[in-house]
Amino acid sequence: CGIVGYIGQQDTKEILLRGLEKLEYRGYDSAGIAVINEDGVHVFKEKGRIAILREEVNANVMSTAGIGHTRWATHGAPSKRNSHPHQSASSRFTLVHNGVIENYSSLKREYLQDVALVSDTDTEVVVQVIEQFVNKGADVEEAFSQTLSILKGSYAIALLDNQNPDTIFVAKNKSPLLVGLGEGFNVVASDAMAMLQVTDQYVELMDKEIVIVKREAVTIKNLQGETIDRAPYTAELDASDIEKGTYPHYMLKEVDEQPLVMRKIIQKYQNNQGKLTIDPAIVDAISSADRLYIVACGTSYHAGLVGKQFIERWAKKPVEVHVASEFSYNMPILSEKPLFIFISQSGETADSRAVLVQIKEHGYQSLTITNVPGSTLSREANHTLLLHAGPEIAVASTKAYTAQLGVLAILAAVTAEARGVELSFDLVKELGIVANAMEVLCDQKDEMEYIAREYLSTTRNCFFIGRSVDYYVGLEGALKLKEISYIQAEGFAGGELKHGTIALIENGTPVIALATQEHVNLSIRGNVKEVAARGANPCIIALKGLEEEDDRFVLPAIHEELTPLASVIPLQLIAYYAALHRGCDVDKPRNLAKSVTVE
Ligand code: G6P
Repeated sequence: CGIVGYIGQQDTKEILLRGLEKLEYRGYDSAGIAVINEDGVHVFKEKGRIAILREEVNANVMSTAGIGHTRWATHGAPSKRNSHPHQSASSRFTLVHNGVIENYSSLKREYLQDVALVSDTDTEVVVQVIEQFVNKGADVEEAFSQTLSILKGSYAIALLDNQNPDTIFVAKNKSPLLVGLGEGFNVVASDAMAMLQVTDQYVELMDKEIVIVKREAVTIKNLQGETIDRAPYTAELDASDIEKGTYPHYMLKEVDEQPLVMRKIIQKYQNNQGKLTIDPAIVDAISSADRLYIVACGTSYHAGLVGKQFIERWAKKPVEVHVASEFSYNMPILSEKPLFIFISQSGETADSRAVLVQIKEHGYQSLTITNVPGSTLSREANHTLLLHAGPEIAVASTKAYTAQLGVLAILAAVTAEARGVELSFDLVKELGIVANAMEVLCDQKDEMEYIAREYLSTTRNCFFIGRSVDYYVGLEGALKLKEISYIQAEGFAGGELKHGTIALIENGTPVIALATQEHVNLSIRGNVKEVAARGANPCIIALKGLEEEDDRFVLPAIHEELTPLASVIPLQLIAYYAALHRGCDVDKPRNLAKSVTVE
């Protein structure tokens, strides 16, 4: 899931380990490093946390070049044996890899009949095939490039050759990888954040290029072997943004940042006259499309569902929202002039990227809404809108979700205006009120902790219900809760629960209901009565003005069309405290990765 590499003057071990620690938040289940010196390559790897790996690394091995990896298992269970780096049979080559090699079984059959593989991974096949080509007479660069040319799937690779101790060989296809530049040293990283401690100068790599990284030089070559010149860019990340300060968890810090992010978004998308504005090319692209297709995964998909409401209600454009992983092979019949909107916090999610590649082949236009400038989805789409939320480290997405809603609302409002549709309210003013409401909600942590204790301390499941946009926020509330507390949680449309799921309601089952929409207020309350009559323990969260006597929590008054921006905050906090009480690792939940770069 994460790759780092360093070649320079200093001892490598610490630089690699620190780099891997910066990528820890992305989620992983094992980690390893390989360092090279005059005695050859030394590999250290362990299942579990980097702290465990750190203890295993022999402090006496000095080296000034090496590579490191955090693994999120795809092929082969998490174990020391399956963790990276992997080595070739003779131990000459050592390699780390992110991504999935789809044709690894056929490669194994074709090239590795006589090689005893030591792991269950697709990665080991790559390093073994490189050695086979070398055994047949190729030099290492030729062998590397021959191997890459037969790989199918996605990869970011860093390779060490113990007969070339002054070089790291690097390549990528579909998976992210950058080279960072320094004085007398160079680095490799799957995310600039990993190596920010040593440099902020990075060079983008394109798919299928081969990069030769030495202490004093970086050479990029294309498939034809031609050398390519590419200027570096400055990674505008503030290292302090990725510290948690006095907060016990990144998630709590990021929940608390939401009012600030909302104000920043209002400011970033406002012109000098205080009017909301968006790159006219984007507004044009939307106006001239006959249908918008939002494609996303996880939390970003949930933001897309709410975004559809904003765009359809205000800008009067038809919108479809699709889960990226399904879309690529289950494409709906497209309209004549579609515009694709990719929503992705990280801008790296492989499922979304696969759709982008596919629709580009058809020549369709695209817009990426992302938190990470320069990310793959941003670079490869025609247009980008940034979330300005600052790095999101906790695996469970919080501030990126509300930022996505803020940007989608602004996009919808500006497009509406461009199309001559007048909004019945002043969005700048209403978003300002939302930011204040967010602050009030973040100050009510004690109450959320209390609710989490009361409803969720022993339950094995929990349901979220709502109608209209409350349904979509319920889906996100359920996702937050299950991601970090492992309580089985599901979100349902209020009216749908009785068509099956109500069978799961038992005495005391918590049902969290959102009631923020006047036009469905009576109906959702009817649904709450249905589950209460069957023993459920309902927890109603209502918007001020719609509240009733038994409601458990009342949200500050905000514009009814914007409630998802605020109503999600209690749900985020309830999930946080539920996870905390159950002793779960809030920021790094089991099995999950922050940015999933495999399809
Ligand atoms: C992963 C994360 C989710 C996230 C999803 C989409 O599965 O665990 O929290 O919502 O990817 O990520 P993206 O970066 O594309 O928004």
